[in-house]
Amino acid sequence: MNTTFFHIPLNRRKLLHRLLLTTGGILTGDLYAEALTLTPRSTEGPYYPDHLPLDQDNDLTQIIGGKAPAGGVVTEIGGRLLNVDGKPINDAVIELWQADNNGCYLHSKGVQKGKERDPQFQGFGKITTNAKGEYRFRTIQPALYTGRTRHYHFAVVQSGKRMLTTQLYFAGEPQNEKDGILRGIRDEAQRLSVIREFKPMSTGSQDLHATWDIVIGMTPEDPEQRRKGPRPR
Ligand SMILES: [Fe+2]
Repeated sequence: MNTTFFHIPLNRRKLLHRLLLTTGGILTGDLYAEALTLTPRSTEGPYYPDHLPLDQDNDLTQIIGGKAPAGGVVTEIGGRLLNVDGKPINDAVIELWQADNNGCYLHSKGVQKGKERDPQFQGFGKITTNAKGEYRFRTIQPALYTGRTRHYHFAVVQSGKRMLTTQLYFAGEPQNEKDGILRGIRDEAQRLSVIREFKPMSTGSQDLHATWDIVIGMTPEDPEQRRKGPRPR
């Protein structure tokens, strides 16, 4: 399938169809190019792991030598890493870090008051995109913790440079309306691009899955801005 065409909205497809009719079918490829919405940059937050686990694969629900799976609702997140022209980005590393089922992070200051970190949860994982730009994680639904709505943290590293730091949210989560970081994404298309619907993996299953394409630009991030949390453009 022509994936570029796949991203052209219906009204634009109609326009292109009319143009094809009036130009006898002669159109340059540039006219088909459709700029995708850049995934908004967001703050890294205070809990990027300060000690990385030995097991850093893309299944955060199981750790090497673990006696049991992590607690919580299992989720799968997958999609493609793309540039703004919709071209897949191969061989980039996508990192995921998040709160466990108790709202605790894999960070020396990431344990919430009165809670304990789930020792069976990996807390951090990564995967390298394939030739189609595809990635996939198996993890759990992060618990809520004070001051934030439910969210995942993601980073994209290309050729050793951090290209994007962002967060992913759950559609329908009541706290989304009050979350300062999510609401701080002023551009509506960008804001909506990081709110995904998590659906049951199969009928009757409690496990959830979501698809999410990540779209990055050409400019690596400034580490200082990453910590402060740049205003998403
Ligand atoms: Fe967080």
